[in-house]
Amino acid sequence: MLALAGYPLGLEFLFLDPSPDACAAALGQHLCADYSDPGALARLCASAQVVTFEFENVPLAVAERVAARLPLHPGPLALRTGQDRLAEKKLFQRLKIPVPPFRPVDRREALDAALEAIGLPALLKTRRLGYDGKGQAVLHQREDLDQAWQAVRGQPSILERKVIFERELSCLAVRAGDGAVRYYQVVENTHRGGILRRSLPRADDPLQRRAEEYTGRVLEALSYVGVLAFEFFVVDGELLGNEIAPRVHNSGHWSIEGAETSQFENHLRAITGLPLGNTATRSVCAMFNCIDEAPPLAALAALAGVHPHLYGKLPKPGRKLGHITVTAADPAELEQRLTNLKAVAPELFP
Ligand SMILES: Nc1ncnc2c1ncn2[C@@H]1O[C@H](COP(=O)(O)OP(=O)(O)OP(=O)(O)O)[C@@H](O)[C@H]1O
Ligand SMILES: [Mg+2]
Repeated sequence: MLALAGYPLGLEFLFLDPSPDACAAALGQHLCADYSDPGALARLCASAQVVTFEFENVPLAVAERVAARLPLHPGPLALRTGQDRLAEKKLFQRLKIPVPPFRPVDRREALDAALEAIGLPALLKTRRLGYDGKGQAVLHQREDLDQAWQAVRGQPSILERKVIFERELSCLAVRAGDGAVRYYQVVENTHRGGILRRSLPRADDPLQRRAEEYTGRVLEALSYVGVLAFEFFVVDGELLGNEIAPRVHNSGHWSIEGAETSQFENHLRAITGLPLGNTATRSVCAMFNCIDEAPPLAALAALAGVHPHLYGKLPKPGRKLGHITVTAADPAELEQRLTNLKAVAPELFP
C-alpha cells in the first residue's frame, strides 16, 4: 500500500522481504532474502536513497547498519522503542502519559510478586515479537500463573492489569523532518481474539485533543519522521497508553479513501522530505479487516461506497487477507451502506 501510494508520486521501490510471495513484489524489485543477509543489504544500500520499514520486527542491528549508510526513517531509536513493550511503557511514563498498571517480569520467580502488585485479571505479554494478540496470556486466578508463563515460553514479559475499557482509540500522526506534525481523526477500534476487526474514524471526538497531545510528545521524544500510530484504552473517559506502532498502521487504512492524503502517502512525503499532505477526512467511513477469508469480490463490487482491498495472501488462520473501507456522505448514508455490506458479509462485523 506504500508502493501503491508512491507510484503516482514517481517513486520507485525495492522491497527486502524474506517471503517468496511477498505481496509487494509486483510493485517493484523484490529482494527475497533474510533481513540480515549481507548481500541483500549491500544491494539495498547501493540502490536506495531512503529506507523505511512497515514491520517493527526487522532486527535492530540491521536497521542500525542501514542507518549508518543512508537515511532510515523512522530511525533506530523509534524502532528499538516500538520493538519492546517495556521500553514503550517506560517512555510513556517519562512523558507523563498514563498507562495501565504493569510490572516487568523477566523470570518465573518475579511473576508472583508482580501479580501481587497488579492484581487480577491481568495479561502477561512478551516484551518482543507480539502482534495480533500473539504472545499474550490472560490470568483470571492465581492458579493461571504457571500456564501463562508457559504460554509466553518464559520470555521476558510484562504483567499488565486487564482494564475494563469503554473504548479503544488510536491516533495516527505524521511528522516531517523539520518537526511539522499532522494528526488524523482519532479512530475507534474493535478487536476480537486480539485481532483488529473494525476501525471507525471519529469526527469531533472529545478525546481528539488529548490523543494528539500524547502522540505529539512521543513523536518529539523519538525525533520521529514518518507515520506513527498510538493505541489507547479509554477508561473513565481518560486515555491510557497501550502501545505505539512505528509505522503505517492497520487502523489508518481507511485514510486511502477517507482522508485528503492517505497515511501511506503522508509517510512517503515525510521520509522523502516533501511537505506533508492534508490529513482532513473527506467522507464518513468505516474499515473492516478480512480475517481468514475475504468475501466474494463480485458481491462487494456490487455495493455503492464499498472499497475492497485484497492483499493476494494465502489464507492462514487469523491472517489478515484484505480490508474493506465503506465511505459515505453522512452518518445516515454510512449506516445504510453498512447494512448492505452486512447482508453479504456478516462475518466482517465484530
Ligand atoms: N491491559 C489490557 N486491558 C484490556 N485489554 C487489553 C489490554 N491489553 C491488550 N488488550 C486487548 O488486546 C488487544 C491486543 O493487545 P496489544 O495491542 O497489546 O497487542 P498486540 O498483539 O501488539 O496487538 P497489535 O499489534 O495487533 O495491535 C488490545 O487492542 C485490546 O483489545
Ligand atoms: Mg495493539
